[in-house]
This record gives sequence, structure tokens and C-alpha cells, in this order.
Amino acid sequence: MERRLVWDLPTRLFHWLLVASLIVQYLTATWIENAMQWHFYCGYFTLGLLVFRLLWGLVGPTYARFTHFLTSPATVLNYNKTLFSRHSVAYTGHNPLGGYVVVLMLTMLITQAVSGLFMTDDIFMEGPWYASASQSVQNWMNTLHRTGFNWLLAIIALHITAVIFYAIFKKQPLTSAMLHGKKSTKKPAIRSSKLWLAAFLVVVTAILIYYLVVIAPPAPVTEEVYY
Ligand code: HEM
Ligand code: HEM
Repeated sequence: MERRLVWDLPTRLFHWLLVASLIVQYLTATWIENAMQWHFYCGYFTLGLLVFRLLWGLVGPTYARFTHFLTSPATVLNYNKTLFSRHSVAYTGHNPLGGYVVVLMLTMLITQAVSGLFMTDDIFMEGPWYASASQSVQNWMNTLHRTGFNWLLAIIALHITAVIFYAIFKKQPLTSAMLHGKKSTKKPAIRSSKLWLAAFLVVVTAILIYYLVVIAPPAPVTEEVYY
């Protein structure tokens, strides 16, 4: 079978930049002292990556699109029956089960990044949306940000275990495809990585995030004063 381009460059960059930024987020919140400012900056960057991926899922090349990897429940159930077979069909994009796991991961990651906007370290730093929220929303977001990260770690562990399982048991080298973009397949290659469109979306996303966190974060809650 011919090796054809399946994962466009923006999708691959998204993936590996996401991995790098989550490592930075973990280190700046836990291991490195006085790094909260960097946690904030990298958090905005991560949020930007995720917004970009949502847009890319709508207008990116074939295999990056949500419509391509979100299939019917029946397709997922049929695929699941072949999960532990060595000879199941290798999918060109995400497989039917993997497609839903990707959406779950993206949802959890967006929750993590957005809840961060409402966080405070109780010393110097407040997320840009902290002051706009009531006390109960602040508490909620705090719980979400702290416990959410453990759930995120669990799904990332599952994701990496699945990738290793596919490599060893099913002999499907998914990771190298996420690096160079190519897979052995009979399905058509993508025609282009749509780099100009990706560059345009990066600029739009950057402006949007800058607007939401710097120029016009939601207005602070004003305490009602009774005389
Ligand atoms: C912080 C850790 C990680 C996160 C949050 C993460 C997240 C994701 C996400 C969101 C996707 C979907 C990509 C897209 O369609 O845009 C994906 C796909 C993928 N990831 Fe990761 N990933 C992580 C670590 C890793 C590592 C360490 C590896 C390799 C050892 C890996 C290998 C892959 C592969 C091969 C795919 C494509 C799967 C397929 O062919 O369907 N990931 N990952
Ligand atoms: C996906 C992006 C993010 C990840 C993975 C992440 C991860 C984490 C982790 C692991 C912690 C430590 C939790 C604990 O100690 O229980 C934390 C704390 C925190 N994060 Fe994030 N975070 C992200 C985005 C953000 C953003 C965007 C902001 C603010 C703009 C933010 C602000 C904070 C604050 C203020 C704390 C509390 C630090 C403290 O208690 O000293 N985070 N985050």
C-alpha cells in the first residue's frame, strides 16, 4: 500500500504543542516556584490551541474534520467488537472509538483552560475572569480546575496506553503518523495542509484570546452596599 499524507501539518503541530504546553502547565503550577505568571501565559496559549483545533475541525482537511471522525453509534459498536483483534481494519483518520475519545479529551482540556481563567493563587495572581464571578462560581471553578486535572491525567494515560496497544498488539504505528503525517492507506491523501487558512485562523484565534483576557474580560462583580 502507498504511504499517503493523512495528518496535515497544523493538526500535527497542534498535537505536539498541546503535549508540550500541558507539561509546562503542570510544572509551572506544581514544581517550579513563582512561575504562576508563566502558568497564565501558557494557559492562554493552550486555550488558543484548543480554539484553533475546534475551528480546524470545521474547516481543516478531510481527516482533521469532526464530521470525518464522529460516526454513528452503530459504527462505534461494530468497531468495538474488533478492538481486541489483531486484524481489524486500520483507519486512515481516527478510528470510530478514538474519534469520540478525541472529542472527550478536547472537552476536558477546554474545561481545564476556561476554569483556569476564574482561578486565583490566593496570593498575588487572579485569572482575568476571577473578579467577574460570584463566590460560588469561583469555588466551583476552583474545584473543577484542581480535580479536573486528575481526570485529564487519567484520560491521557488511557490515550497513551491505547497508542502503545495499537503499536504492539495491532502493529499499527500511529505515533510515527502523528509525526510525519503519512500512513499506508488506499484512501486518498489530503490535497493540501491548507497552511494559509491555518495561518489566518491562528491570527483570528490570537486576537480573540487577547480580547477576552486583556482588552475586555467580563466586568467585575460590584459588591452591593446597603446603608
Ligand atoms: C499531554 C499528553 C497528550 C494529550 C493531551 C494528547 C491529546 C491528543 C489529541 C487531542 C489527539 C487528537 C488529535 C487531533 O485530531 O487533533 C491526539 C491524537 C494522537 N495522539 Fe496524543 N496526546 C498526548 C500525548 C501523546 C503521546 C505521548 C503520544 C505518543 C506516544 C500521542 C500520540 C497520539 C497519536 C498517535 C494520535 C493519533 C491517534 C489516531 O491515529 O487516531 N499522544 N492526542
Ligand atoms: C489547559 C490549561 C491548564 C492546565 C493543564 C492547568 C493545570 C493546573 C494545575 C495542575 C494546577 C495545580 C492544581 C493543584 O495544585 O491542585 C493549576 C493551578 C492553578 N491554575 Fe491552572 N492550568 C491551566 C490553565 C490555567 C489558566 C488559563 C489559568 C489562569 C489564567 C490558570 C490559573 C491557575 C491558578 C491561579 C492555579 C492555582 C495555583 C495555586 O493554588 O497556587 N490555569 N493549574
